[in-house]
Amino acid sequence: EKGGYDHFMLKEIYEQPRSVRDCMRGRIYPQQGLVQLGGIKEYTEKLKNIDRIIIVACGTSWHAGLVGEYLIEEYARVSVEVEYASEFRYRNPIITEKDLVIAISQSGETADTMAAIELAKEKGATIFGICNVVGASIPRTTHAGVYTHAGPEIGVASTKAFTAQVTVLTLMAFYIAQQRGTITQSKLVEYLTELNEIPNLVEIALKSNDHVKKIAARFKDSTNCLFLGRGSSFPVALEGALKLKEISYIHAEGYPAAEMKHGPIALIDDEMPVVFIATKHSSYEKVISNIQEVKARKGHVIAIVTEGDTDVRAMADYVIEIPQTAEAFVPLLATIPLQLLAYHIAVMRGCNVDQPRNLAKSVTVE
Ligand code: F6R
Repeated sequence: EKGGYDHFMLKEIYEQPRSVRDCMRGRIYPQQGLVQLGGIKEYTEKLKNIDRIIIVACGTSWHAGLVGEYLIEEYARVSVEVEYASEFRYRNPIITEKDLVIAISQSGETADTMAAIELAKEKGATIFGICNVVGASIPRTTHAGVYTHAGPEIGVASTKAFTAQVTVLTLMAFYIAQQRGTITQSKLVEYLTELNEIPNLVEIALKSNDHVKKIAARFKDSTNCLFLGRGSSFPVALEGALKLKEISYIHAEGYPAAEMKHGPIALIDDEMPVVFIATKHSSYEKVISNIQEVKARKGHVIAIVTEGDTDVRAMADYVIEIPQTAEAFVPLLATIPLQLLAYHIAVMRGCNVDQPRNLAKSVTVE
């Protein structure tokens, strides 16, 4: 059942080259620069004219939503707000018929997300779902949607469902951009060609496993851990922290790297591991200065870097390389070593990684 892996979580981490590919299958045509999302195609006209998208979700799915915010705003130039479903539904939010609400849920059964959808529906908004479980309550309630096709996820900690959600949001960002004319055809060809390679690059990212395991052995007894990133790597930092805390019970927090100086820097001492997503993209130089600030306080830096990087390598305690890709696709690769890090630390601490204490796979209570 576990296909030779010790845990479902590890099996599901290793399934990601396939699950990401399945998620894109029949939806992208790189040479033509075309994205096709059959599930939402009836709403093409609506997408041309919207001025706001609200994403509602919980937990890991909310983190995927934050990645989606960066991508949709960047490429489709529509303003996006990402809300915890549980907060949104109790706030008397301002929603109109002009709004598009995107609900993200692996299980399709999360009570708060369901309630947020019902509220938005009452106010006349159009609701799209991004779900994994086919025919679950949420996809039956939404007006339209796109399935993630990641296959059943058994491990309570979400892994392949997250990367599939991010993949769908990436496709949606380009789809909406294509409809609205906010991206050129040649750029679309370029991006989709690169996106098409991502499953292979995920495979390469998984090769960091043995190295990550050694890093895990070094930090398994930590009591705290900080995860920092900027731009779309900020939600990846949040997700890395959530994975670690939920399965290893180590207290972990994710922050935008620039916010470190506004508080979390006080926590840094010679016992504190700080995980940076420091790939060679727009905030590279800024993240390097954040790394220097941590090193000046004797913190231990573990950095996810672009392959061949030398600058971060010179100052970090440990580096984990991921393949070079466009900034838009970094979340799909940078997430992989963070999942592996959480997994190995939890196993070394003797935790039940597939069924962490107090957690359920689908949260049908509010
Ligand atoms: C974390 C995790 C949870 C879920 C959250 C939402 O690993 O699994 O945070 O992401 O309970 O669940 P869904 O996506 O089923 O609505």
